[in-house]
Amino acid sequence: MSLLRSAVAAIGLLLVAVQPVAADEILIRFAHVVGERTPKGEGATLFKTLVEQRLAGRVRVEVYPRSIKFNDNQVLLALLLGDAEMAAPSLAKFRTYTKKLQIFDLPFLFKDMEALHRFQASPPGRALLDSMEERGIKGLAYWDNGPRVISANQPLRRPEDARGLTFRIEPSSVFHAQWSRIGVNTFPMAFKQVYDAVREGLVKGQENAWSNIYSRKLHTVHRYFTEVGHTYLGYMVVTSSNFWNSLPPDIRTELENILAEVTAEVRRLAQEKAIANRREIAESGQVTVMTLNEAERDVWRQALMPVWKEFEAEIGKDLIDAAVASNQ
Ligand code: SIN
Repeated sequence: MSLLRSAVAAIGLLLVAVQPVAADEILIRFAHVVGERTPKGEGATLFKTLVEQRLAGRVRVEVYPRSIKFNDNQVLLALLLGDAEMAAPSLAKFRTYTKKLQIFDLPFLFKDMEALHRFQASPPGRALLDSMEERGIKGLAYWDNGPRVISANQPLRRPEDARGLTFRIEPSSVFHAQWSRIGVNTFPMAFKQVYDAVREGLVKGQENAWSNIYSRKLHTVHRYFTEVGHTYLGYMVVTSSNFWNSLPPDIRTELENILAEVTAEVRRLAQEKAIANRREIAESGQVTVMTLNEAERDVWRQALMPVWKEFEAEIGKDLIDAAVASNQ
């Protein structure tokens, strides 16, 4: 009897062992550096939800927000090493993989989000998604955040107000050159470190989109915010070419469809949060938000725009012209 029970138990174990289990599932680890309630954070969560609904049992997504797995400067290597499958770094963070994407860092390039979207959807904008293919990185989509605003504990209405301050910047050569033009020192650092660096006075200024400022509570450590309107914070959703090419074609197509849907939702959320988070910060009573008039903005334009010339050779004049044309 006990022999029979053992045999049944053994068969049971065998059956469990040969079930088609999670090992057959494709795992996508999506790592990013911001909070879950930001446009990118919500986009990554929606991507997970839709993938696990529509590709149930075939693809599973794990989302790692707030740099819990990788910083932006680590994640591209992680994609190449197979330690993550997807990420969406800011467009300012790809310079070791291509110089072309520096185009998105140029100040005062796009007159509004519609112009930016027109360029991203144009053939030269689409081609940029493939600009890192020879380095093994594939661009899948552009996601929005919003206009970058600058902040400090003193009002920054004119470029000379910032002279001598140290700004935390994303690791962009364009940002470094642009701020150096007006006498600002720059300190590139990971997003995760910005709050402490500002609070401890290691940096006196910073620039970011409203949703990042709000979610990281930067308005509790800086008092003056200026809407210069010089650049937008946006992202490229990326994967490794090896991973992407290894996927069954039907799964790839479904993932592309889902990404298109999520991209549209991220755009909507980005617009909504840029307005709502700005309002919450402005109404917190802790800060002053300064909006510039056209003449004041023009002073910043004159001060920062000459940096375009410094990067024309690396980015390509044709590409810059195509971006400018999207403003019409
Ligand atoms: C992000 O929005 O992904 C972070 C941008 C930054 O590093 O400031």
